[in-house]
Formats: sequence, C-alpha cells, structure tokens
Amino acid sequence: MHYTKKQKSMLNGDEGKGVQKAMEILSALGKIYGAKRFIPVESVQVSGVSYKNLGEEGLDLLNDWAEYGNKARVVAFLNPAGMDLVNWETLGFPQEFAVKQLRVIDVFKKMGLQPKCTCTPYLAGNKPGFGAHIAWSESSAVSYANSVLGARTNRESGISALSSALTGLTPEYGLHLDVNRKADYIVKVKTGLDSLSDFGALGYIVGKKVGGGIPYFKGIKCATLEQLKSLGAAMAASGSVAMYHIENLTPEAKNNPVKKDISQIIIEELTPGYNALNTKTNKIDLVSIGCPHASYEELKQIASNLEGKKVKTALWITTSQDVKKKAKQTGLLAKIEKSGAFVLSDTCIVVAPVWEMGFRSLATNSGKAAFYAPSHCKLNVRYGTLSQCIDAAVSGRWGDD
Ligand code: F3S
Repeated sequence: MHYTKKQKSMLNGDEGKGVQKAMEILSALGKIYGAKRFIPVESVQVSGVSYKNLGEEGLDLLNDWAEYGNKARVVAFLNPAGMDLVNWETLGFPQEFAVKQLRVIDVFKKMGLQPKCTCTPYLAGNKPGFGAHIAWSESSAVSYANSVLGARTNRESGISALSSALTGLTPEYGLHLDVNRKADYIVKVKTGLDSLSDFGALGYIVGKKVGGGIPYFKGIKCATLEQLKSLGAAMAASGSVAMYHIENLTPEAKNNPVKKDISQIIIEELTPGYNALNTKTNKIDLVSIGCPHASYEELKQIASNLEGKKVKTALWITTSQDVKKKAKQTGLLAKIEKSGAFVLSDTCIVVAPVWEMGFRSLATNSGKAAFYAPSHCKLNVRYGTLSQCIDAAVSGRWGDD
C-alpha cells in the first residue's frame, strides 16, 4: 500500500495514539483487501452503539480509545442506540441499562462524533452526493447510499468506521472502485409491488438468493424513497447486499453495470417472503414501525392511519431526531401521540432490550425488523402491511383470530 508522508506520520503516532490505532486498523484492512492507497471520506456513520450489543467489554474498549484524546475529522453520525436518549424513562427502559447507554454516547461525544443515532443519516442532515466517498457501517444505510444516492462506501464495521472518523480516510477497495459496482445477477420482478412490506418481502427473497452479490432489478417501474430503503434493508439482512441497481430508477443503472455471464433470477410471487418472515403468534405485545427509521412522509401516513383510533398495545414508531423535530413543529407528532403511540428517536427495537422489558411478540411492516427480531430479541413476529400493524396495535391481536 502506498502511504503519503502525512499518512506515514499518522501511522507512526505523530498525531496521537488514537489516530495511530485507527491507521493500524485501516492499514490492516487495506492489506487484506488489496487496496493500493487511502482516499479521503466526506462522512462517517458508526454502528455498534447499543449497550445491548457492546456490553462492558465494548464500552471499555471505546473508553480506552477516547482517552487518547483524538477527535473525528469529518462529519460522523452514530447508528441507533438501545433506547430513546431522552424519553427512556417514560417508555420503561431499565435504569441500569440507561446509565450504561448514556455512558456509551458520552464516550462517542468525547471522540467528536455527533450524538445523532440514526440508520437514515441521509434524512437527518448527512446526505452525501453522487460519487462521494464515505465510510458508513449500518447495512441499510450503506445499501441506500451506494444504490440510491450513488455515493461509495463499503459495509464498514463499527471499528473501521470509527477509524475513518478519526483519520478522515478509508482504504480504496471494494465499492469505492467502478469495477466492483457491477451487478452479479439480473432479477426479473414479475409480480406487483405495493406496500413497504411487499418491498421488504422481495428484499428478503432476493437477499437469500444473492448473498453478498449485487442484483440488477428489472420490472420495478417506480418506487418511493421509503420503498427503496425497505428493499435495501431487507436484502442487507437476509443476505449481505451492499448495493443494487434498478433499471430506469437508480443513478448508476443506466450505464448497464452488469458482469459477463450474469445469472438470472425470476420473482413471480412474494408469498415465500411473507411466509418466512411470519411466525405463529396472534397476541401482539409490541408493534414497531420505522425500520429503517421513518421518514416524514411515513409519519404522515401513520398519522392518517391512526386518526380517531386508540392503541391497546405498545406502538413504537422509530425515527431520527431531525424527522421527529419536524413532526413536532408541524403538529404531526401530536396527532400520532393522541392515539397513545410513541415516536421514539435514536433507537430501534432490534437493539433495544425489549425482552428484558417484557415484550414477547412483535408486529412490524419492516422486512429487516421481522428478520432479526426472533434471533436478536427472542420475539415471535407477525409481518404485514402498515394497516395490518395499526390494526394489531388497536386490537392487541394479529388478524381476526
Ligand atoms: Fe435501523 Fe434498527 Fe432497522 S438500525 S434499519 S431500525 S434494525
């Protein structure tokens, strides 16, 4: 790997031990993946923020790193934490967990990262332009940035993204290079797509089939921002898809970015996706909407669905601080909360201690949340449309059973 004079001195520790450690991590990655040089990044998004995932060991590691005193050199956001950072007490998060979680946030703040914990940084003031090099680690955000915005990021780990924040650099390999942004599969979609859960079910099926490959979709005529984030999130969960193209829709699709001898997948129905994401439960303890974090448009739809209704079971709508703030200013938040639902910022149910809080079953319209909730939260899951989820919140049950 080639190092500039400045990069060599960073690696030698001339700019502090925190930077040295970050350079060591990025150098090791660069060597493993055959990078020839470092490139600057415009922004960073760091995962591994919930104390539920970090534990004491992770917190100690961050603490030690922060002690060196180095700070982020570029805009750096965080992934969702394990609780709403402001309203955790009202929502019933355990005090012991909250104390630890707040300590994690303080450590990141000490390192100069912004305490904006969201998986949709592009809806919260951190939207990279076409061609921008970034280092993000939340898989759904990585997928959205590469595919929809045309920005360039590998699927970073929390540690490698943090290293990029402290150095402003990333090794140039993988999706930073044109040659690696071509599709491995043509996916012909021959079924209609309507709701977010349809896109999530499609994403689940395709992610399972392509693993870490890049699919090129044909047959999707139009899709909203919300549908695209839902599709990407589900593919990144059931597979490890970090980028996709959609004919006539995504910015790099027009250059016919497909590899030679490409395989073809035909999707004629979504039922296998819905079946795989549903487990057998009718009583619903918790309804979760906003995975990835809800946009303002989604909040509008939710408010309209909830009009005149009262929820019987906990309904958590997760979003970013920015979107929640806008909803508060416009009165949308009050409309939603009138039903008894909560709009949470900075968190998501997958990384929250929901089992410890007594929840055993979940209804959601997110393919990603439905995929992870059984393994990460030990919850039985019902997966369906937004109206089915709202009905479940109102009745406490899924469907008519
Ligand atoms: Fe975001 Fe959590 Fe879903 S990080 S994408 S709300 S699993």
